[in-house]
Amino acid sequence: MSSPLLDRFIEDAQACASRYASPADCVDVIAPIMQRLLSHAESFLTDAHLRSDPAHYTRNAILMSADGALSLYALVWLPGQWTPIHDHGSWGVVGVVQGMLEERSYIRIDPNRATDDNQIDKSDATNNGDSNIDLVRGGVFLLAPGTVSTFVPNPDHIHVTGVPANGQRTVSLHLYGRNMNHFCVYDLEKRARTRVALAHNES
Ligand SMILES: [Fe+2]
Repeated sequence: MSSPLLDRFIEDAQACASRYASPADCVDVIAPIMQRLLSHAESFLTDAHLRSDPAHYTRNAILMSADGALSLYALVWLPGQWTPIHDHGSWGVVGVVQGMLEERSYIRIDPNRATDDNQIDKSDATNNGDSNIDLVRGGVFLLAPGTVSTFVPNPDHIHVTGVPANGQRTVSLHLYGRNMNHFCVYDLEKRARTRVALAHNES
């Protein structure tokens, strides 16, 4: 279903992504645009965007840009569904449509953290940047409907997102500065991270 509001949001987001070289500038401009979009989300979210799965949280694609520079998803979270600890290697803008999304931050404290994000190619599983990673737990954010949260890479925003078992079905919009078909997953005990492919439903 085509929606002028959604089309305009995507046009504006694409313009920001190409105009601003700095991810921080980009999310700064897109955050209020995302917030305005949230108040109209019910008018463009289709049944396909709202699919859920009892086995795991569901990623329903709204836009995957042809040049790979931008992607937008509707994520549906049932109670008790969480991501692993991860980072995106990209900027992102998250907006909550309904429910309550919880985000738990992790802070990297190993000595390699200062240079790793800028210099290591995460696609190369053999490099040393994927091991000897130490994380500590950081703060928690409870994101209510209408809330917008953003992040930027380098250093990457390491986090877990989801809904507690006693929470409610939650729908959120996630815009990223690339096609989010993989991200890096962290293993606390092994002190390692791995690049993991991400599945999504097409619209
Ligand atoms: Fe994330």
